[in-house]
Amino acid sequence: MADFHEFYPLRRHNTFGFDVRARYAAHIRSEADLLAALNDPRAAGLPLVVLGGGSNVVLTGDLDALVLLMEIPGFRVETEAGAWLVTAGAGENWHGLVCRTIEEGLPGLENLALIPGTVGAAPIQNIGAYGVELRERFASLRALDRQTMRFVDLDLEQCGFGYRDSLFKQAGRDRYIITAVTLRLPRDWQPVLAYGELARELEGNAAPDAAAIRDAVIAIRSRKLPDPAQIGNAGSFFKNPLVSAEQRNALLASHPDLVSYAQPDGSFKLAAGWLIDRCGFKGLNDGPVGVYGKQALVLVHHGGGTGTALLALAGRIADTVQARFGVRIEPEPVVL
Ligand code: EPU
Repeated sequence: MADFHEFYPLRRHNTFGFDVRARYAAHIRSEADLLAALNDPRAAGLPLVVLGGGSNVVLTGDLDALVLLMEIPGFRVETEAGAWLVTAGAGENWHGLVCRTIEEGLPGLENLALIPGTVGAAPIQNIGAYGVELRERFASLRALDRQTMRFVDLDLEQCGFGYRDSLFKQAGRDRYIITAVTLRLPRDWQPVLAYGELARELEGNAAPDAAAIRDAVIAIRSRKLPDPAQIGNAGSFFKNPLVSAEQRNALLASHPDLVSYAQPDGSFKLAAGWLIDRCGFKGLNDGPVGVYGKQALVLVHHGGGTGTALLALAGRIADTVQARFGVRIEPEPVVL
């Protein structure tokens, strides 16, 4: 039976550490728990909020909702021709999974080390870092389809992954509750060292294995991203904006140090951190909320503040960037 609470404090369930409450919250440790919670008469008619690690949400106030705290465990390895299939429960810690696979001799997730949050949340924004996106290691996932109340398996194509995007942020928003994810890790593992900073971190190691790459990623992330256990944050707060080659070239002419990355379709991704940094926001504090001093893309909460204050700061940043560069930057986390 799902373990149900009324007026449940969510401060420890969102990495910004905003102090809000849920009208009801249920710990979901199995698919049976999930069905039981959804059928519980106490929460009938209330909106539903699904929380994994709470590392990609901004909670702006108490939630008059049923909050599902996804804690389904599980780890299973199967083999197929040329690859291992690793299935993990939605509630498993993502970084824990990365480390466990590497320790068990199943490389492939090392570039995605230390990303906060759970396995079940990883496909929602198609987590990506240091040259690898989840979709490149994704096989399928299992989810409850709330329209039919049946469990379904969704494959790579059905999940509609894009940069920090998927079916679950678009047409499938509020429709699916992910309970397990299966990753495909090819046996002929190849290191991905395309990201300049990662390659530099590994200089001197001619043939780094997965554990060495994981450790390098951990070192880089620890240097520039705040640990949510110490400073409230949700990683990158803005997505890197995509612009046309024309717009990028015009900006480059007036800002020769502009940081941009060519995309396969000819467009360019701009480093939002660079844009925000150039507007002078890096390290700025506005009472309890602010911009991290080592990476302008990360907004922080020092305690005692609200999601609303954080969003006001984010709006000011986006407006300033737009006025100065003519580019609109969009928030990454889900606002509730
Ligand atoms: N930059 C600045 N000032 C800053 C921050 C960045 O000038 O304050 C410049 C840097 O000099 C660098 C460039 O911007 O040349 C890119 O910075 P970085 O390598 O830190 O990567 P990012 O584009 O800011 C993205 C992801 C991160 C991911 C890293 C590494 C997004 C929104 N963010 O950040 O993801 O870890 O690349 O792959 O795509 C996250 O999503 O929460 C996240 C941390």
